[in-house]
Amino acid sequence: MNILHYQQEFLAYLESKQWVKEPKNLYEPIDYILQLGGKRIRPVLTLMAADIFAKDYKKAMPAALAVEVFHNFTLVHDDIMDDAPLRRGKATVHEKWDINTGILSGDAMLILAYQYFENYKPVVFQKLAKLFGKTALEVCDGQQLDVDFETRNDVSIDEYINMIRLKTSVLVAAALKMGAIVAETEEENADLIYDFGLNLGLAFQLQDDYLDTFGNPDTFGKQIGGDIIENKKTFLYLKALEVANEHDKNKLQFFYKQKLKDNSIKIEEVTRIFEINDIPELIKKQIEEYTEKSFSTLASMDISEENKTGLKNFGLWLMNRTV
Ligand code: IPE
Ligand code: IPE
Ligand code: MG
Ligand code: MG
Ligand code: MG
Repeated sequence: MNILHYQQEFLAYLESKQWVKEPKNLYEPIDYILQLGGKRIRPVLTLMAADIFAKDYKKAMPAALAVEVFHNFTLVHDDIMDDAPLRRGKATVHEKWDINTGILSGDAMLILAYQYFENYKPVVFQKLAKLFGKTALEVCDGQQLDVDFETRNDVSIDEYINMIRLKTSVLVAAALKMGAIVAETEEENADLIYDFGLNLGLAFQLQDDYLDTFGNPDTFGKQIGGDIIENKKTFLYLKALEVANEHDKNKLQFFYKQKLKDNSIKIEEVTRIFEINDIPELIKKQIEEYTEKSFSTLASMDISEENKTGLKNFGLWLMNRTV
């Protein structure tokens, strides 16, 4: 089955739920962020995995909803932490309402996410809750490292990869494994699909970092240059420090110590330094490497060629996205 089909089925399920109730100021922001769109990557992965291992994706719907609601919770809090004005082409929750609203609506979403597991029998429930708890805590670890790195100037590429593994990859991997858990497949399958997701997740976050600077502002849906404004130690920045000459390197390091009111010159200059040092090409190579690595995990999996192609196509679609 194709990606679009899973997306549509998931959306129908999401829209069948009544999100808004009293107190409105708590639930309206939840409804807002969940209906704002997004690619629905994680729930699609949960459904795909359940379909692959049990030929039944419908029973994975509550788990898929859990992972998407959790993801949206992380976005609401992440946008506060990153001081981001735009999400999916619209105002972020804390911009449209305020920071306190973002905090509490986010908290409620985290709790709602756990409640969807109550739809499963005890053995499955326990496995889901255990994986989810571990994953959610890892996302916190990653988010804290991401923030810590903003004010550090000795971050290595290895540290960066570990940080994005935690803040992003583990959730992509867990989304797939949750589908495998619901399908009650063998542990070996569940672990292999998790590994596939880990590498795919790394490629995905690298692509997100690329798009943050080089994406099309009309379609990306987030503020272009947001990572530069916030002094995020992304692969773009760390690779540039590795390959640039002393002059460009000093300039980059100078800019990444600043917090400015007007960021237009900073964004322009930093982007230019990335470009003249071929960083867009270098990050694309890195994205391809992690995508290929994820494909090599697929090779050792005991699933049909058709299903392997389905997962591969998902990876290729992810790598070529513009949003
Ligand atoms: C954004 O995730 C946060 C990252 C981990 C990069 P997505 O790019 O999946 O966001 P939506 O849900 O499609 O908007
Ligand atoms: C996202 O990292 C990680 C989580 C939300 C946990 P980013 O800060 O790069 O995500 P975007 O770019 O705001 O979507
Ligand atoms: Mg962010
Ligand atoms: Mg962030
Ligand atoms: Mg980003």
